[in-house]
Amino acid sequence: MESLTISDWLLTELKLGRFPPRMPAHRRVYETIRRAIASHHLTPGTRLPSTRSLADALGFSRNTLLAAFEQLHDEGYVVSQTGSGTRVAKMLPEDYAEKNTLPTATNTTITANGLSVRGTVAAGLVDQPSYEVQPFAPGEDDFSAFPTQLWRRLLNRQWRNPQPAHLDYGHAGGYLPLRRAIANYLRMSRAVNLTVEQILITSGTQQSIDLCARLLTDHGDRVWIENPCYWGARRVLEVNGLQLHPVPVDDEGMAPGNADFRRPPRLIYTTPSHQYPKGVVMSYGRRRLLLDYAASQGAWILEDDYDSEFRFEGRPLSSLQGMDQSGRVLYLGTFSKVMYPGIKLGYLVVPPNLAESFKRGLYELQRPGQVVIQAALAEFIEEGHFASHIRRLRQIYGERRRLLQKALAPVTSVGARLPPAGSGLHLVIELPPDCDDVRVAELAAEQGLHVYPLSGYGIGEHREKGLIVGYAYAATERIAPNGRILADVIRAALSH
Ligand SMILES: Cc1ncc(COP(=O)(O)O)c(C=O)c1O
Repeated sequence: MESLTISDWLLTELKLGRFPPRMPAHRRVYETIRRAIASHHLTPGTRLPSTRSLADALGFSRNTLLAAFEQLHDEGYVVSQTGSGTRVAKMLPEDYAEKNTLPTATNTTITANGLSVRGTVAAGLVDQPSYEVQPFAPGEDDFSAFPTQLWRRLLNRQWRNPQPAHLDYGHAGGYLPLRRAIANYLRMSRAVNLTVEQILITSGTQQSIDLCARLLTDHGDRVWIENPCYWGARRVLEVNGLQLHPVPVDDEGMAPGNADFRRPPRLIYTTPSHQYPKGVVMSYGRRRLLLDYAASQGAWILEDDYDSEFRFEGRPLSSLQGMDQSGRVLYLGTFSKVMYPGIKLGYLVVPPNLAESFKRGLYELQRPGQVVIQAALAEFIEEGHFASHIRRLRQIYGERRRLLQKALAPVTSVGARLPPAGSGLHLVIELPPDCDDVRVAELAAEQGLHVYPLSGYGIGEHREKGLIVGYAYAATERIAPNGRILADVIRAALSH
């Protein structure tokens, strides 16, 4: 782009006004130029017009332009040299981010496998989880309580006389009766504020996050994730070329500080009902803070409400989406936990003004389908089986949780902590900072118990130590004996 066209183009972009009303002018200019650089509309080395001429062309004060340029400079998007003005940097921040997140053997891997950089990240960012299912493996569920016969009957009913539309990809965001059933469920049990038009059926949370990343961000945009974080979300966001910015989690949930606020993200991925993996419930104050901040900066919040069905104590907390007055929250839910992961169905609730674009995007990018299963699931919910299945699972898992907490209680005498938490399908045992939690997990594995080290979910140098212990999969009668074995392993490891 020539200097003249850069000013014209900037003016048009700024007029298009895809900014929240309260966003200051310098942030709008900064955002617009940064996006142009990240999306390669402005290529490395391109000389930008002077702040004075841009200020005249755009009708802003020179200070506004100086502030925007200063931020671009601080973040490494532009470089300034006396005499040659300001140019787009040759090496962009996202290039550094990519370099830093990829394994050192990246280039070899790409050449050897023919994978793209994106493919290399997708395939190798974190170790593949082991699929050998053992007691206490987090994320594994017990399917023995699933009403298989009933489900088969509902599927058969759909297949007896399938309508042609049920065998197609399915337009309009998913099967309408299922969207209605989910809307009723979410209004009642999660205080989600929605109309049916705002719901899309996806093939699960992983796909919902991917759709949000593709439709709401451009390559290089900043996204806040929780530290520690759900690796599934992290991988999808990273593969989309986003700049991941880890935000610590304290006893009130995601805890952004001043340094975080200085560089607003485009997306915020969070698990407020039950932080994954730490299990913290986000406080009311933190919820308000995040919502207000997102509204003032025009950021989107992805609320992953992955296991809120399993609340064993206290009143269920309402969703972040239900508190949102500014339409900044996208609410993500899944049937993986209550039904079974292979059902590959989840839902995404978007703000009203995004509904049409998301339906089109879903169709264009992912060709959803699975309408027959969606129809069977709609009946499963409408006929009350979903609610009774959740009640049954809550009873089974609640009992397992109670037994596990009791069996693990002795670990608190050697410096481990068992934070109170009344929901979800796993417990966290917090270990002292100098403890090698990977080693403790290995020692547990030697006893046939599969637990995950908390540090494996952390990002950066200062990783919290602990163990993630799933109790959904282990048979109820095995929980107490296995829990005692695990407690002994921890006590022995911490006593050395
Ligand atoms: C935080 C979180 N979100 C989402 C999911 C799974 O969602 P889905 O199977 O629909 O992709 C999981 C699974 O463990 C999870 O831990």
